[in-house]
Amino acid sequence: MVTLAEALRFVMRLAHTGGAAVWIGCGLLYLLARSAQGAVTTGYYNTLRLLMARSLVLLVGSGVYLIFDRLSNPQVGLTYIVVLVIKLVMTAGIVWLVSGGRQTRSTVAGPRPWWRDRGRLMFALGAGALALGVALTLIYEAETGRI
Ligand code: HEM
Repeated sequence: MVTLAEALRFVMRLAHTGGAAVWIGCGLLYLLARSAQGAVTTGYYNTLRLLMARSLVLLVGSGVYLIFDRLSNPQVGLTYIVVLVIKLVMTAGIVWLVSGGRQTRSTVAGPRPWWRDRGRLMFALGAGALALGVALTLIYEAETGRI
């Protein structure tokens, strides 16, 4: 028999992985569209931005639930908590960038390193948060014997 807590965990994990797929997919489309330059309309960019903003709300909402759910298990160890804190710092960086932090209009001519490019930095932080999310799932299983 599936309990309410298990059903809710399933729904939240589904929302979280769905949000992650939309975030990563739109981030990739954004970078590809930018390299196509004039061929892409402003409406297309706006749609990607809207989808990314909504997926971030979904990620934060479901992520907060998952934190309470996971940390309510006393068997969770230090490794899980350390990785979780790193992931939260990365997502805080994403939220800062989405809300207008770091405008990268360069005054210096020539190519910039990737991490000074807002779009690429956002994508890299999202990919990092995804990798740490998968790591968290595996660490939780190793530490508690539950999935
Ligand atoms: C771009 C941002 C993010 C991406 C791409 C992302 C991606 C993922 C993925 C793919 C997983 C594995 C899910 C699973 O195995 O069911 C995960 C797990 C997790 N995420 Fe995120 N996430 C992001 C942001 C957040 C935020 C904002 C929070 C908290 C506020 C959060 C908290 C968690 C937690 C606690 C887990 C662990 C679940 C477990 O122990 O199995 N994530 N994340």
